Amino acid sequence: MPFIETCLSPALIHSYFLPQKNVVIIDILRATSTIVTVLAEGGSAVLPVSSIEECRQQQAAGYTTAAERDGSKVAGFDFGNSPLEYRNSNTKGLRLALSSTNGTQCVELSKAAHGIYCGAFLNLSALALHLAQQQHDVLLLCAGWKNAVNAEDTLFAGALAQAIISQNPQFQRHPHCDSTLIALQLWQQLNFGALIRQSSHFHRLAQTEVRADLDFCLQCDVYTSVPVYEGGVFVAAAPTF
Ligand code: MLT
Repeated sequence: MPFIETCLSPALIHSYFLPQKNVVIIDILRATSTIVTVLAEGGSAVLPVSSIEECRQQQAAGYTTAAERDGSKVAGFDFGNSPLEYRNSNTKGLRLALSSTNGTQCVELSKAAHGIYCGAFLNLSALALHLAQQQHDVLLLCAGWKNAVNAEDTLFAGALAQAIISQNPQFQRHPHCDSTLIALQLWQQLNFGALIRQSSHFHRLAQTEVRADLDFCLQCDVYTSVPVYEGGVFVAAAPTF
């Protein structure tokens, strides 16, 4: 029976055993929403990088570059971390190097895993089906905000756990993982839009020019693209059916 666990903050990742598990990186506002959108809109690869300097170096390697810190675009880069930037521009074949405050930092922490995926409301059902068709345990890794737990990533973890179990009832939340129990209850009991609209990062971003990202990132199943980490970059996973 495959199990689902949830790590509510990258600071807790060392409490989890990663080998043989599929890790889903969750950063709803906005890194994983952005990566899903880039690949769904025709981008060919997203290179997640941890530092601004490493991102700048990729410009010389032919990547288009995107960098965000504290919710704002970093000067000197082609893009920030807004998924809408990739719906309104020519994304076909784009190779993007992306550095964000939280989300892209989680990839390095996940490298011992069997597989690394990006999860967002935007690709919820397609990702759940992709994971449910494998027999690997799943670890949902919430990017949070600077190692603090946040509402939107935790809620999505509950939504994805429920969707995986609905697709394949052999999956169960790990009985020793109260984080998944909490995330599931949050998702099942609460109006997720209302809760997220009260969250800290929602308010941070609502004061900026990327206000439109908030409504976009909270939509379910806009895309069927499933970003998987292969050869050091995120690419769109081949359909499993
Ligand atoms: C991130 O995506 O790492 C952060 O949550 C910040 C953002 O993009 O607003």
